[in-house]
Amino acid sequence: FAGDAAKGEADFKKCKACHMIVAPDGTEIQKGGKTGPNLYGVVGRKAGSLEGFNYSNALVKLGEAGEVWTEEDIAHYVADPNKYVDEKTGDKTLKTKMTFKLTKGGEDMAAYLASVAPA
Ligand code: HEM
Repeated sequence: FAGDAAKGEADFKKCKACHMIVAPDGTEIQKGGKTGPNLYGVVGRKAGSLEGFNYSNALVKLGEAGEVWTEEDIAHYVADPNKYVDEKTGDKTLKTKMTFKLTKGGEDMAAYLASVAPA
């Protein structure tokens, strides 16, 4: 995968209003808000599946449709979350709670998120 994790890490400041990255032992890799789910280990996780987080129907349906986040998928998702869900589920009425779009650097962000995961 072509992304540059160091660039993605620098760009993560754009995500911190809503997301933190916290390891299972409580280590805060990125301090951030709680509007969005903890992104530790999100690559390889089923979409909309983090226990205790109140996802939209859109993310739950995406997971039910079989979405397990890959780096490539995250790069596309962050560029336009609603468009991504529409394309994957075929249901244009589904709207995510993520109102932010990362206009460039999605591949770098995905590479960074892949690096903050269990070894
Ligand atoms: C969900 C990444 C910025 C709010 C997600 C998910 C990913 C992600 C991968 C899906 C997680 C899962 O299925 O468990 C990112 C990245 C960001 C970013 C990389 C920065 C580039 C933001 C911002 C907000 C936000 C700024 C708030 C304004 C949310 C919410 C969800 C979500 C509320 C759950 C969506 C739902 O239930 O519909 N994000 N996000 N995110 N994000 Fe973000």
